[in-house]
Amino acid sequence: MSWDFRTIIEPFRIRAVEPIPLLDRKARERALARAEHNLFGLRAEEVTIDLLTDSGTGAMSAEQWGALMMGDETYAGSRSFRRLEAVVHELTGYPHVFPVHQGRAAERILARTVLEPGKLVLNNTHFDTTRANVEQAGARAVDLPTPGSDDPSYACPFKGNIDLANLEETLQLRGSEVALVMLTLTNNAVGGQPVSMANIESVSALCRRYEVPFFLDAARFAENAWFIKVREPGYDRWRLPEIARRMFDLADGCTLSAKKDGIVHIGGLLCTRLPQWAEKFRCELILGEGYPTYGGLAGRDLEAMSLGLLEALDEDYLRYRVRSIAYFAEGLERAGIPVVHPPGGHAVFADAGRLLSHLRPDQFPGQALGAAFYLEGGVRGVEVGSLMFPGARLELLRLAVPRRVYTQAHIDYVIEVAERVAARASELPGYRILREPPFLRHFSASLEPLEAYICASGRRESCAPSP
Ligand code: F0G
Repeated sequence: MSWDFRTIIEPFRIRAVEPIPLLDRKARERALARAEHNLFGLRAEEVTIDLLTDSGTGAMSAEQWGALMMGDETYAGSRSFRRLEAVVHELTGYPHVFPVHQGRAAERILARTVLEPGKLVLNNTHFDTTRANVEQAGARAVDLPTPGSDDPSYACPFKGNIDLANLEETLQLRGSEVALVMLTLTNNAVGGQPVSMANIESVSALCRRYEVPFFLDAARFAENAWFIKVREPGYDRWRLPEIARRMFDLADGCTLSAKKDGIVHIGGLLCTRLPQWAEKFRCELILGEGYPTYGGLAGRDLEAMSLGLLEALDEDYLRYRVRSIAYFAEGLERAGIPVVHPPGGHAVFADAGRLLSHLRPDQFPGQALGAAFYLEGGVRGVEVGSLMFPGARLELLRLAVPRRVYTQAHIDYVIEVAERVAARASELPGYRILREPPFLRHFSASLEPLEAYICASGRRESCAPSP
């Protein structure tokens, strides 16, 4: 429906609640020190507003909770699978549908069955688990983001696009080495930015010309469809399921983490129209995930996923979702925190490198800003910068918004926390790594602030726990 009010209300009311912890500053300082200054080390009861991820953290609808009781736990041939299969056929058009326990399981099956050492996978930008799975198979993950996607102030409507000129040149020069082209919708790593239908169409045509299979990473397919509807000329009258179907029709298959736009706590999909690949996927699925009619999930999970995939395409929900992210971004900017433009679909990315210009990349500005948000107000985000990707082009703090969980008052509170953080930005200390694992270091590294944090009282205090 059309909505001509200034306030975009949450298009749901709340019937089950979960208390959130409100801690005082001393308790937050102790918690962060115990976590060795790594925000991943915090416990749920230590976090007031958790914006670490939008993955698996959404609120299911009453209908989804009800559907759990309808889960058919038959090992082979479950009714719940057939219901999911029908929904996914309708949504994507892909004849071969494999449930998996989450997105990276689909990536792993794809990488292990179709990649070989020395091959290339081209993507607008690989999500980190996709990259890791490609590289684990001995292939090379090559990112071809659109020029300007690393400039936080460049407000292009489809900043998630792949660089078509670069893609064509790579296919021309090294076509025989390219095993797969992928598009990540929306493009998480560059700020949750959408990919245009025109870009998907061009990639599809190039892949057909060079005879290279083309897959979507469709974790946030619904948010991408919304951006096409409202930003791309010619799509404003299309229904969202029609836009989504057109996106899927242009590709040969998809990996999909249903923990995002499937609005479930666990689940994913691997789908394709290529029969030879489907056969390989089926064998690998049985080896690692389970029989193809449950694929690492319970029947009840399949029921919740069938409904979540459809609810995510509801127009009122997506209008609210995307507007609330933009509202959050506008509030942060007013508070004095620069953000990546334009705001994306699932998160606001704060430009820590610019705000904390007194810190070098090896002093981890994104981590410094993340620690400050936590210490000021118990708000947890995630660093996306040199700690996560050594040599990163940008130093960001991602504040991801779980689906249907927080209200506008929660976001207003985070903006108030941001005002306090921004007021003291020039005093925030950098960090150094004390210990780190051999890979994916951001999850478990131990860190230390480079100098004492200046507390609200104005006194310099150590963040070390009191003895
Ligand atoms: N692809 C994209 C674009 C993702 O953002 C993620 C996960 C995955 C694949 C992997 O899916 O977690 O179900 O195995 N992203 C989460 C995040 C973890 O916080 O952005 P998964």
